[in-house]
Amino acid sequence: MNSQITAIGVYAPSQVITNDWFADKIETNNEWIISRTGIRERRFTEPDEYTSDICVKAVKNLIAENPGVTTEGVDFIIVGTTTADQVMPSMASQIQNALNIQDAGCLDIMAACAGFVYGIILAKGLIAAGTHKKVLVFGAETLSKFTDFNDRTSCILFGDGAGVALVEASEKSKIYNTITGTDGSHGKDLYLSQHASVVNGEEIVPNGKIHQNGKVVFKWAIQTITNKVGELLSKNALKLEDLDWVILHSANLRIIEAVAQELNVPMDKMLTSIELYGNTSSASIPLAWDLAAKSGKIKKGNKMLLLGFGGGLTYAGVIVEV
Ligand code: UT7
Repeated sequence: MNSQITAIGVYAPSQVITNDWFADKIETNNEWIISRTGIRERRFTEPDEYTSDICVKAVKNLIAENPGVTTEGVDFIIVGTTTADQVMPSMASQIQNALNIQDAGCLDIMAACAGFVYGIILAKGLIAAGTHKKVLVFGAETLSKFTDFNDRTSCILFGDGAGVALVEASEKSKIYNTITGTDGSHGKDLYLSQHASVVNGEEIVPNGKIHQNGKVVFKWAIQTITNKVGELLSKNALKLEDLDWVILHSANLRIIEAVAQELNVPMDKMLTSIELYGNTSSASIPLAWDLAAKSGKIKKGNKMLLLGFGGGLTYAGVIVEV
């Protein structure tokens, strides 16, 4: 059974946080943040607004903006997040209850910034197996609740947001071949731990905040992602020229520019969400997709390469036709 993404919905929290907001609190400034990351602003959730809440708002937007689309018949819910409201129950279960979706399988996946693309790959697999037909896949984060605001190298990066894709069985295959991989030896370069533990043989800081060795992740990302775009294209017997759009995880605009330069892809083919929303981890790809769709860039029949990468360190990529 083939599959396609039939609709996308997003929710961006209303609280806009400018770069100047940080300049009052830590030693930084607007120019540094824009030139080193591309970020102009990001959104933060309210203190009582959690990941499951913004997922539900994203589905409501998806329904409101796509006439005729409903959650009726949804038989599986997958949530890619690293910032769940709690460990158990899963975000997927909370969404199932909030939207009263009957008889849906529910699970969360923890693949950091690659979570949304991993979710699409799992949904494709469930539909290909013939066991499911209509799957909601989320990438959603409330990173501001897990940010160390004393760490100036990371706190300026993160934002909150949610995206959801409806993946349905289809006659024609519009979710093409995929790619996944991990280098767990870099686990300690990007982690979030609530209790004392050991990663790669080293004790890590268990304060429930995100710790990132920015330089190492930055280098790994450029090298890995450049290579993996090529591998994903060859797995699909496609060339860069066959793609209409490329959406890499919006971790840092400089990473996207460096990959585009290495691959010789013009920047206007790269769709991003980093400027307006910061690094929203698993939500960054659907947020970029939605911005481009609303500005009229994405047209029916377009081919897009999606590639998420982050904590693990792990990556997942897919080419889709819209
Ligand atoms: O989403 C998951 C995947 N994540 C990523 O892919 C993120 C990858 N990493 C990055 O995006 C970048 O490494 C950062 C944005 C985190 C940092 O950028 P950088 O260009 O690697 O900066 P740096 O750490 O090399 O720091 C350069 C300078 C340092 O000063 P000195 O040592 O050269 O005097 C830092 O202390 O910039 C300084 N600096 C700052 N200055 C003003 C670091 N953070 C700040 C800041 N404001 N917020």
